[in-house]
Amino acid sequence: MTTSEIGLIGLGTMGAALSMNIAEKGFPIAVYNRTASKTEAFHAAASDLAAAITPTATLDAFIAAIAKPRAIIVMVPAGQAVDDQIADLRPLLDDDDLIIDAGNANFHDTNRRAQAAGERPFLGIGVSGGEDGARYGPSIMGGGPRRHWDRVGHILEAISAKHDGSPCAAWLGEAGAGHFVKTVHNGIEYADMQMIAEVYGLLRDGLGHDAAAIADLFDRWNGGRLQSYLIEISARVAGTLDAATGGPLLDVIVDAAGQKGTGRWTAIEAQHLAAPVPMIDAAVTARNLSSRRQQRRAAEDLFGAGPTPIAPAQLTAEQLEKALIAGKILCYAQGFEMNAAASREYGWNLPLPRIAEIWRAGCIIRSAMLDDMARALSEDPDRNLIFAPFFADLLRDSQAALRQVVATAALHGVAVPALSAGIAYFDALRTARGTANMIQGQRDFFGRHGFERLDDGTTDQHGPWADPATGN
Ligand code: 6PG
Repeated sequence: MTTSEIGLIGLGTMGAALSMNIAEKGFPIAVYNRTASKTEAFHAAASDLAAAITPTATLDAFIAAIAKPRAIIVMVPAGQAVDDQIADLRPLLDDDDLIIDAGNANFHDTNRRAQAAGERPFLGIGVSGGEDGARYGPSIMGGGPRRHWDRVGHILEAISAKHDGSPCAAWLGEAGAGHFVKTVHNGIEYADMQMIAEVYGLLRDGLGHDAAAIADLFDRWNGGRLQSYLIEISARVAGTLDAATGGPLLDVIVDAAGQKGTGRWTAIEAQHLAAPVPMIDAAVTARNLSSRRQQRRAAEDLFGAGPTPIAPAQLTAEQLEKALIAGKILCYAQGFEMNAAASREYGWNLPLPRIAEIWRAGCIIRSAMLDDMARALSEDPDRNLIFAPFFADLLRDSQAALRQVVATAALHGVAVPALSAGIAYFDALRTARGTANMIQGQRDFFGRHGFERLDDGTTDQHGPWADPATGN
């Protein structure tokens, strides 16, 4: 029975939601999961959509259910499981059957898999939006040969989120380009989440606000410039009560952040590309530090608790809101510059404005500001966002608040690593005469690495350095 237009392997949370979404958009789909009982349970729960879904118990039956040339989405945990699945699948497929890895793959793995696939069609696509996104409209970042994307692009666009009617799904470049952009998306996600957590810390530990008050504030901010999914859900998270204690659920959650690795990959790849993403670096480091609970407790015992009370007049809600606005601009500027650096390095020709556009809906970092970023990048994709007049104005208006927030946090022992990295990045960028002349002097002193002179432009200069023994 070859009635299905597409197939999907892996009925975990994301795979199941994506299958329902595909079926709902009118594309008959065959599904397969290693544990057959999961497939049956999924199909039984599909109610109205069950007729469009063909559950299969073996890989052979799965493949037989898909119309040729086949298109198969693989939605299994990133890493070895993807390689294993491809190895099981390939021998059963025709040479023109398309495999689409839709998990959170490391783009190096995607490059390797694309290489191994040779002429056999393979795509790596990043899918963002969590379970709800997968079910009702994710943001989809495609990578691989364009001609393969074109075979399934209409399905991926149909199931994607829409922003003013425009699909949040796009082909972005060859090989691992889609998974790379998804990785950067997650790096930005880490930094955005970390900044919100830092502001939460200032409100809770510095200003003594309870979770309900913080929820109200986030809710208010979500009606303004900061409108975004992450601010919206942060309000919901802060506003939720715990059934067991009756108090805020947030107050009983262990303060150690998990991570599956995509934020770390962003930081690692940024170093390879020499692309400065200090706010993402800081967010990854903050997660690492958060998991050292014992060490943090011991240090608090030794040195005393960090946060000391902040007087309301010292730090206003407006300043915190503006600090988040400035931080957001700076962190997205870093993320887009990283995409640009990778595009140059790997010859991908990444469409930066389109990336901003497909991040406007469906994905975790969707926000009103991404619309402005899409516009700014359309005007000039090669310009760091801080130079776009719209964002330059916003930064002029908000950078003092970011500075005030970071300074106040430092004086009161509240750790704000991502916001601090933001203001340091801004200050470093806007300092025409920096301090690396000292680094160059040191390098030449101990290693004769040479320096360039500012006055006459001559290069490969060495000292001569003063000798205390001779006085010159
Ligand atoms: C998305 C998310 C998703 C991510 C999880 C968990 O875009 O939908 O980025 O892909 O895997 O949110 O990520 P961490 O476990 O690393 O926080």
